[in-house]
Amino acid sequence: MGQGKVVAIANQKGGVGKTTTAVNIGAALARFLGWRVLIVDFDPQCNATSSLGASPALAQPNAYALISGQCDPTAAILSTGVPGLYLVPSSPDLAGAEVELATVEERERVLARSLAPLAGSFDVTLVDCPPSLGLLTLNALVAAQHGVLIPVQCEYLPLEGLTRLVATIASVRRLYNPSLTIVGILMTMYDARTRLSAEVVDEVRRHFPKLVFEAVIPRSVRLSEAPSRGCDVYAHAPSSAGSESYLAAAREFAARLGMMPS
Ligand SMILES: Nc1ncnc2c1ncn2[C@@H]1O[C@H](COP(=O)(O)OP(=O)(O)OP(=O)(O)O)[C@@H](O)[C@H]1O
Ligand SMILES: [Mg+2]
Repeated sequence: MGQGKVVAIANQKGGVGKTTTAVNIGAALARFLGWRVLIVDFDPQCNATSSLGASPALAQPNAYALISGQCDPTAAILSTGVPGLYLVPSSPDLAGAEVELATVEERERVLARSLAPLAGSFDVTLVDCPPSLGLLTLNALVAAQHGVLIPVQCEYLPLEGLTRLVATIASVRRLYNPSLTIVGILMTMYDARTRLSAEVVDEVRRHFPKLVFEAVIPRSVRLSEAPSRGCDVYAHAPSSAGSESYLAAAREFAARLGMMPS
């Protein structure tokens, strides 16, 4: 049995580091804190699935089968190359779920119901969301009993999008999931050579002083290479700046969940 925490990793903006964060915080928690971690790839792009070395075309059953009740929930879980790290893979047909769910009763609770029998076997379940605020992300936010982690890229001034996301989270909390909190905001792709990166971090810290993680993830070639090798950054480049920063972020994440002293 595990601690049973469920956290969504969400930002409607594309390419901000959601999947990289899910994979590498998940891997750090499993490798260095000994947690049992489940990553649910809830994005039809299937990037978390391929990043962890599984083939989206072949991964059966998958998140789509799980939420459509086509498989026993435990059958959708794959092991990965990392001990303690497990994956519910995605497949391109998850895109159809966005339309199909529209007619289902309590369509926003389908993922929460599907994860209920699984989450207790893990310390944390991380749901990697697609870049939209559609029905898949809504399901992830409703399932996220222990909050949402928001990666924000340091390369664009993000306040408009963040304000919208925070408002959406507040609506979901009011309507569907009273326990939905923001676990934190993780600044990603920090480039120490540009003023813009420092400005973006300052601005987000000013607006959300308690929410921004101390750890900042640098822009790192090692982090962007690992997915094409089908592995996490610890297997690809164990002593890189990317691996160290994600370990620091994972420790902070654990502390913010109340699962270790900060
Ligand atoms: N810190 C980093 N340094 C360098 N490259 C990075 C970093 N983080 C992510 N990347 C790369 O940037 C791209 C986008 O990252 P990622 O897929 O994690 O974002 P995402 O928010 O999940 O995207 P999407 O919205 O499409 O799901 C990927 O090619 C990834 O390898
Ligand atoms: Mg992604």
